[in-house]
Amino acid sequence: MTNRHFIIDTDTASDDAVAIIMALHWPDVTVDAITTVYGNVPLARASANARYSVEFCGQTTPVYEGCVRPLLRPAVHAEWFHGADGMGKLGQLQPQRPAAEKHAVEELIRRFRAAPGAITLVTLGPLTNLAAALSIEPRLAGWVKECYIMGGNANCVGNVTPAAEFNIWCDPEAARIVFHAGIKCLMVGWEHCRFDAALTDDEMAAIRALDTPRAHFALDCNAHALQVGRESQGASGMMLPDPITMAIALDPRVCTRRSWHYVDVACAEELTRGMTVVDELNVTDHKPNLEVCWEIDRRLWKEILCQTLH
Ligand code: RIB
Ligand code: CA
Repeated sequence: MTNRHFIIDTDTASDDAVAIIMALHWPDVTVDAITTVYGNVPLARASANARYSVEFCGQTTPVYEGCVRPLLRPAVHAEWFHGADGMGKLGQLQPQRPAAEKHAVEELIRRFRAAPGAITLVTLGPLTNLAAALSIEPRLAGWVKECYIMGGNANCVGNVTPAAEFNIWCDPEAARIVFHAGIKCLMVGWEHCRFDAALTDDEMAAIRALDTPRAHFALDCNAHALQVGRESQGASGMMLPDPITMAIALDPRVCTRRSWHYVDVACAEELTRGMTVVDELNVTDHKPNLEVCWEIDRRLWKEILCQTLH
């Protein structure tokens, strides 16, 4: 079985934590490193949540700390959605191990330079770390084997404004740098976690019935997000955008329709800040720069999730 190498860049709160657990328990994947960034919660809390999640899985994957705020804008967090400290009912989680020494941006450059074309990058938060790394070392774009981005919304509804998804909205300038850097990226928008991609009450009950520490952890840390999602976003169940993106990275068959397009990010106006504008009909003469996920296999995504929570 070939062994794939992953680096996960994350603003670890409840759905990120489940995505991390999925990767750490996937048979042919080694998570070489986790880099953390502000986003759902302040950086220090994202780092603690990531380290706690790694330790919860009995692993020693190094966790590096990166940017504390966007390139040009003040940081805006989302504890209102994920609960105090980002982990729903579980609240303030204290890991035993400290964060790794190096800055995440420096470590991203170092690791991809040392293994060009060999490591898959999965980003689950604002793209500030990656944009900073690309600005320092543009050759990084060619060293990344492939990148799966949880972010954006392909010409459809946003979750933080009518026009934008949170990760891209936080730092649209960073997203624009990443989108135009020449990295082989698949954009998995927030739209894919809605409707029947969300976990139903019966599916959550089935996960609870697995009665494993990971199954309970996954449900408990997302309990607050479930409630807020239902109250404020019309969610039919538990929406898990980061785990869906991770499921696609683990098994690309989950993404059943994908195509390359020119994609840019609105940065100028507050109304459209962070909007990922996809030239779906290729009506501009711009060269496609991003692959876009248009449909997922909802059954397979949920199968993969359950497989990693057993
Ligand atoms: O918009 C959803 C994304 O923003 C997810 O990655 C969630 O964890 C938050 O970072
Ligand atoms: Ca996230």
